[in-house]
Amino acid sequence: MDNMQARRIQVGDFRMDADEKEAILDVINGGRISEWQKTKEFEKVFANYIGTKHCLAVSSGTSALILGLLALFYDDRFPKARKGAKIITSPVTYISTASAIVLSGYEPVFVDIDEKTFKLKTEEVRNAIEQHGPGNVAGILPVHLMGYPNDLDELIEIANEYDLFVFEDSAQAHGSLYKGKRTGSLGLLSDFSFYIAHNIQAGEMGCITTNDGRLYRLMKQLKANGRACNCILCTRSKGECPGIKKYDGMGDYDPRFTHEYITYNFKVTEFTSALALSQMKKAEWIFQSRSKNVKYLTEQMKQFDHIFSLPPYDPDVSYLAYTLIIKPGSHVDRKNLRKALEDHGIETRPLFGCIPTQQPAFSYLKSQYEGRLPVADYIGSHAFYIGCHQYMEKTDLDYILDVFSDILKQNRD
Ligand SMILES: Cc1ncc(COP(=O)(O)O)c(C=O)c1O
Repeated sequence: MDNMQARRIQVGDFRMDADEKEAILDVINGGRISEWQKTKEFEKVFANYIGTKHCLAVSSGTSALILGLLALFYDDRFPKARKGAKIITSPVTYISTASAIVLSGYEPVFVDIDEKTFKLKTEEVRNAIEQHGPGNVAGILPVHLMGYPNDLDELIEIANEYDLFVFEDSAQAHGSLYKGKRTGSLGLLSDFSFYIAHNIQAGEMGCITTNDGRLYRLMKQLKANGRACNCILCTRSKGECPGIKKYDGMGDYDPRFTHEYITYNFKVTEFTSALALSQMKKAEWIFQSRSKNVKYLTEQMKQFDHIFSLPPYDPDVSYLAYTLIIKPGSHVDRKNLRKALEDHGIETRPLFGCIPTQQPAFSYLKSQYEGRLPVADYIGSHAFYIGCHQYMEKTDLDYILDVFSDILKQNRD
């Protein structure tokens, strides 16, 4: 260990390269920092990349989830999307998937996941629908955790059979391919996050993608406090917006200050849109660099596959990070191992925990789910991840391998 030069290997890294600096300067010189042309441009570029007709930028991935779920409430084509309706989702995800479901008035129903790729077990989805009563379930919200796509064809088939919506949480899967199509293009709605550790970064920002024009227009209103006007670049002030309702007795109303819904402000700034836009120029490089790093690590980590379940390598996956699950009976303690890695400058994160049994915020569901989500429970207490990001070099990967080797050798001695 002494001859190893200490390094700092973060879970994710963001660099202000020339592109990002130029994008920020553009905004400053343009003179308008609230939502405007850069946001419009980003939405166009991202929709095109994902392969949907529409994209709507919002303040975070969490707001994208809330916005989409609220829109389904307000759209009368989805009568099952009502207060208290159930949404089937993953128990192992960043907390906001489940929080957004609760905050927008629905109830999450958690089903167990595949132990290698974290996707929903489709048979369990079907069982949960039957158990809760098809009339009480409004939708399925699969999470493409760490970039691994769910079985979308099967989930969409189940959804069609029971008249449910599919809302993809693609916050961790920018660019992942499912049977040749990008995740985020197959569900009715999909959310993405551009938080700093994600593959496309803007500091804080999110978006929602869809092919449904009606939901898109509704969400444009809902993201801006429910205002009557749904154009971003609107400069009209005298009710001249095309396609919006006229209100009796409000002849000179201003559509920007006339509100049809009670809702939130999820708008973005031009700065974050500009950063996300500059990142989109590098999307392919980011995808490929992460993929290459995961491939190399998985090949080399095979020497430890008696200790860890390694992440399956798939060239279609846009990897958020490199996940390791400590195998049963391997006598390696996650807390000690994470501490040892951190002591050597290798940042780690737990794989979120099983929401209904391990997250304090959802402890009201603990007794209901105790013993019913064995894979999620195990992953929640034995999985963690390290970085595989685009700025890591081969020497960083070799350093990681040396550190693992050293720590695990000491563990054995
Ligand atoms: C799967 C998943 N969903 C939703 C979110 C929420 O995104 P944000 O942090 O931008 O609110 C995240 C963020 O990490 C996530 O990983």
